[in-house]
Amino acid sequence: MTTMTPDQVLAQFEATGAQTCFHGRHIQPQIYKDLNGSNWRLKDYEARGGYQALRKILAEGMTPDQVIAEVKASGLRGRGGAGFPTGLKWSFMPRQFPGQKYLVCNADEGEPGTCKDRDILLYNPHLVIEGMVIGAFAMGVSVGYNYIHGEIFQTYERFEAAIEEARAAGYLGDNILGSAFSFQLHAAHGFGAYVCGEETGLLESLEGKKGQPRFKPPFPASFGLYGKPTTVNNVETLAAVPWIICNGAKAYLECGKPNNGGTKIFSVSGDVEQPGNYEIPMGTPFAKLLELAGGVRGGRKLKAVIPGGSSSPVLPAHIIMECTMDYDSIAKAGSMLGSGAVIVMDETRSMVQALRRLSYFYMHESCGQCTPCREGTGWMWRLVDRIHNGQGRPSDLALLDNVGENIMGRTICALGDAAAMPVRAMIKQFRHEFEALIPGLAAATAATGEKV
Ligand SMILES: Cc1cc2nc3c(=O)[nH]c(=O)nc-3n(C[C@H](O)[C@H](O)[C@H](O)COP(=O)(O)O)c2cc1C
Ligand code: SF4
Repeated sequence: MTTMTPDQVLAQFEATGAQTCFHGRHIQPQIYKDLNGSNWRLKDYEARGGYQALRKILAEGMTPDQVIAEVKASGLRGRGGAGFPTGLKWSFMPRQFPGQKYLVCNADEGEPGTCKDRDILLYNPHLVIEGMVIGAFAMGVSVGYNYIHGEIFQTYERFEAAIEEARAAGYLGDNILGSAFSFQLHAAHGFGAYVCGEETGLLESLEGKKGQPRFKPPFPASFGLYGKPTTVNNVETLAAVPWIICNGAKAYLECGKPNNGGTKIFSVSGDVEQPGNYEIPMGTPFAKLLELAGGVRGGRKLKAVIPGGSSSPVLPAHIIMECTMDYDSIAKAGSMLGSGAVIVMDETRSMVQALRRLSYFYMHESCGQCTPCREGTGWMWRLVDRIHNGQGRPSDLALLDNVGENIMGRTICALGDAAAMPVRAMIKQFRHEFEALIPGLAAATAATGEKV
């Protein structure tokens, strides 16, 4: 396989004007702090205070319960999309279960717009390793895997190199730092399917099977990898843990908003001057994030923003400009913070065209197990496609909404909802753009004032 080196990847980013994580425009960064693209090695990480959280736990004799209590008190919520409280999730692991238990890092990162985890893994891999060792200690786990998206093979190679360094220095393997605690960590790579980011699809794939999500319950905490208790956490979630242990739960919670502790990395893409990853405290106004990313490209007007990855409902400019970037504010506005991928669209963008592209993606990525998702994603794409081509029918918007409604909540995994939500939000927020392309409909609506 021919792959680019991390340096070539970096050069490619820079050539396109995309910002990687080491520009100076983060606010109070914890994860991307002091990175320059080449200081990813163990010695650099240790010079930044790396592995001090692990040393603190072992030196102070912190118990697993104390570590979980600290993570709970920090208000850390899962950065993979759902925002589930991490400490609570860790407490679900049946620590006394006598057989094998696993911790899995989810580095699949397939949600369109999201590119934060690959920067963490390429430029600060030991932070994730330390977060995993601490998580494993807290949950009584002795084996872990990092499942890395298959299309970023250089990240997988980098992570393997970091694992080797950590093993040689005694941070991984048997009797870590001379303690009784042992943890074996392995890297695994997928092959690039979005659905393998769904945690049970990921586990199937890790077992070497087709990456098709499992019916739940049982949940991974009781029946996970190879049927054993398993916790799956996102890269950014695990990367947040060492800071919490070193600086305390209170400091983490206070950097942010109540119920929305810490910093969050936002991958800003689309019509901005400087697309890239920006780490800011939770609760920072959206307007500030837009300013960090250089504002709307070409001085144009902002039209809309998809605030949390392509599956989160679109918000028109006047709504997002009033929001702060945290789970609660974005939910109140009618969308989701999701994975933190902020897709900015200026006044020249066609919402019909954008939705056509997104619908195609979800149709393509459906694993095909459930009828509503398998048939519904294709149906929605065909409807949007014909509206886009000027062949829509007056009843198509009601039909689109109905198909979306009938997918939601009726599938094995949340990919069905992820496909339906953008469709329903786009036709709710920008209905006039769809109507304008349906022959006869715009005129009929204008004449009667009724929505068909
Ligand atoms: C279709 C789909 C794709 C997903 N992709 C990812 C992903 O790429 N990375 C990720 O961390 N979580 C992803 N998730 C969420 C995971 O299922 C899981 O909730 C998450 O990894 C848990 O980690 P956290 O609690 O640290 O957020 C996806 C979920 C769905 C339904
Ligand atoms: S919702 Fe879609 S992707 Fe998820 S299991 Fe069903 S068919 Fe597969």
